Amino acid sequence: MYSDYTSYDSYLEKMCSILKQCNRILEDGRFIIINVSPVITKRPGREFESIRYPIHFDFHKILENAGFYFIDKIIWIKPECTVPNRVAGYLQTGMPLSYKPNCITESLLVYRKKTSFLLDKNIKLYSRTLANSIEKTDTSNCWHISPKADKKHPAVFPEELCEKVLKYYSFKGDIVLDPFAGSGTFGKVSKKMKMVPVLCEINKEYIKKLEEEDYDDL
Ligand SMILES: C[S@@+](CC[C@H](N)C(=O)[O-])C[C@H]1O[C@@H](n2cnc3c(N)ncnc32)[C@H](O)[C@@H]1O
Repeated sequence: MYSDYTSYDSYLEKMCSILKQCNRILEDGRFIIINVSPVITKRPGREFESIRYPIHFDFHKILENAGFYFIDKIIWIKPECTVPNRVAGYLQTGMPLSYKPNCITESLLVYRKKTSFLLDKNIKLYSRTLANSIEKTDTSNCWHISPKADKKHPAVFPEELCEKVLKYYSFKGDIVLDPFAGSGTFGKVSKKMKMVPVLCEINKEYIKKLEEEDYDDL
């Protein structure tokens, strides 16, 4: 929960320290992919304005500070019927400035660990047999994927999102880290794709659920 942090700056500081650890253990030249979207903090009353934080903009600086450089931004697009309706007020009044479009996108920030050699060197370490199938390749940086709701966790990644990220940025046999494991979708999908997941999770309740799901051998 973003509300677990005393301020937005302390949230960014914490994220930066985690990203530095990710950078430390990541192999030279390999990739990190972060899923973020703007967050609104609840206003204490109607007389206050709610604050909307553009997390994806601020992540660029903290990813750079943590030792990564920018490669790509992929947009995850959801069906409009799956997101909260923000545009109703404008449709009622038609008043400019009250316009709040429905937010159907999230960002996937793709960064590479700063390294002295070219990406080719990373790729040449693998044989083509360890690559994933190129069937159904996404040719643009807009990915249309429905979100997933799950009773076990409030924020679950859709399997399809994990599949795409793993397909384009990992080889079979790679060790792949999810530092925010949650319900473990990323871990389960990576196992299915013949990769070796390492999961971190801070919430004891979620850890227990992951263990119950036979994650003992991860
Ligand atoms: C959006 S969910 C992750 C979804 C997940 N990656 C999946 O595959 O479905 C984010 C998770 O990160 C966990 N988390 C938040 N801060 C953390 C931290 N400092 N260290 C480890 N886990 C953390 C939360 O408890 C939550 O379960």
